[in-house]
Amino acid sequence: MVGREITIAYQEARHLDELPEVYAGLVREARRMALQAYAPYSGFWVGAALLLDDGTCVTGNNQENAASPSGLCAERTALFYAGANYPGTPVRAIAITARNAAGPLRMPVNPCGSCLQVMLETEERSKRPLKVILDGQDSILLIDGVESLLPFNFKPSSLYGEK
Ligand code: THU
Repeated sequence: MVGREITIAYQEARHLDELPEVYAGLVREARRMALQAYAPYSGFWVGAALLLDDGTCVTGNNQENAASPSGLCAERTALFYAGANYPGTPVRAIAITARNAAGPLRMPVNPCGSCLQVMLETEERSKRPLKVILDGQDSILLIDGVESLLPFNFKPSSLYGEK
């Protein structure tokens, strides 16, 4: 047996103004969307904003339901809207933010496993790394590519036994 290691590289900013304006604008859109999420059951409001290759910004937020499995996360609300309305347009970046009853989260929010899976397939369809921006009040993380967040993953090529 051999021991192996996976290293993840990412950038961290302490303030929004440290980010290139294009990403700062995306985070602002995600924050705006979190405020209008429909999350009466969890009290956890999530916003997502996508930057498409043509400069279009597509946004989403979590949409809950009394029959809980019928709701959807913010990321997938935005990603599926982009897939439905801009099927041929690559997605370059996604910003994600969240707040609870106490206000915006201090630490960056992590996407759930199902959203990571959809982000991975979006990246595959886009044929370029997806920049993932995880927003928190005290720390904003920028990650290049979904594989860093989901290193052992299942993607379209996995269906054919390929890497
Ligand atoms: N949620 C998201 O919108 N995105 C995630 O990645 C994690 C969780 C939502 C789902 C649910 O409405 C609420 O947050 C609490 O789980």
